[in-house]
Amino acid sequence: MKGLILSGGKGTRLYPLTYTRAKQLIPIANEPVLFRVIRAIRDAGVNEIGIVIGETGPEVREAVGDGSRWGVRVTYIEQDKPAGLAHAVQISRAFLGDERFVMFLGDNVIQGGISPLIEQFASSPWNSQIVLTRVPNPQHFGVAELHADGSIKQLVEKPAVPASDLALVGIYMFDAHIFEAVAAIKPSARGELEITDAIQWLVSAGKSVHPYVHSGWWIDTGKPLDMLSANNRVLEELAPGNAGTVDDKSTLGHHVIVQAGATIINSVVRGPTIIGENTRLENAYIGPYTSVYHDCEIVNSELEHSIVLEHVRLTNVPLRIVDSMIGRYAEIGHTTHLPRALQTNLGDHSKLWVP
Ligand code: DAU
Repeated sequence: MKGLILSGGKGTRLYPLTYTRAKQLIPIANEPVLFRVIRAIRDAGVNEIGIVIGETGPEVREAVGDGSRWGVRVTYIEQDKPAGLAHAVQISRAFLGDERFVMFLGDNVIQGGISPLIEQFASSPWNSQIVLTRVPNPQHFGVAELHADGSIKQLVEKPAVPASDLALVGIYMFDAHIFEAVAAIKPSARGELEITDAIQWLVSAGKSVHPYVHSGWWIDTGKPLDMLSANNRVLEELAPGNAGTVDDKSTLGHHVIVQAGATIINSVVRGPTIIGENTRLENAYIGPYTSVYHDCEIVNSELEHSIVLEHVRLTNVPLRIVDSMIGRYAEIGHTTHLPRALQTNLGDHSKLWVP
């Protein structure tokens, strides 16, 4: 089997963070989502991985390299525009050949690995396996309607009136018949070649598409709140540990991870929380459900239920920061001069809520 990861697209719903960074590289519990996807595929025994890249390709190449860090071989496949998931499959034909493959969307985070699924598909006669899960808002996803015997009746991409609450998770397994399907379909109303339509084509053509219903959690990290939920879930699963320096005036609660080179002085950290490499906390209150990435400095400030990217500085912030995502090199501070006013230097599409 081969692996195909989709890491193109624009990530506009995550502006402004994704103006300057591929959405798949935003860290969840201090690890980029794309790296988790690579590990999940590698752990399932698949070592040949193609990564579809778009505008943010150079950044993805730089972050992932040749894959040797994970013991896999990565081939990059350039997509000139985000013309749809099925288009991404179409342009990956030369890399995939006639082998069976697993396709994983580079912005999806799923509980547990995918090894049993891949093993099952590799030894099955099925032409495809899809992963479904129950969601409260199916209209935002591809939706599956099943027959009473559990087989697929119909698949529709983002239906206005969903026929069920079973959403398509961004993990798909195919054999070479998928190339016939993607060649046969037409672009959708949003102008994309939809993988959902290609799978529906397989079903209509009498190919066997096996639906697996996933019961653990799954998050498509498309929006800031989804990112925070994914961060919460992943933090809960990480093993606590302290590889940094914590002074005896500080308190670390349960389930706190302090990464190498981090320094914690006179601070309180409530888990689940991760403090990144070479980050410094002084007189700070952090957590629960917070990830602070590497090389940050948080002094005389409080932070809760948030994701903070690298090189951020929070100094003497008079209010606790909650439910926030803070981009790289951002600084939040405190002024004492008059007028007593909010002074900002926000990037395009930034959001600031003032109590
Ligand atoms: O997350 C699951 C959902 O993913 C499914 O339920 C839907 O059926 C499926 O169409 C897809 O919907 P999204 O609208 O969430 O897909 P999105 O445009 O966010 O793209 C998913 C990933 O694929 C993302 O990492 C970017 C990448 N991508 C996307 C497109 C359109 C590409 O690499 N190339 C593309 O052309």
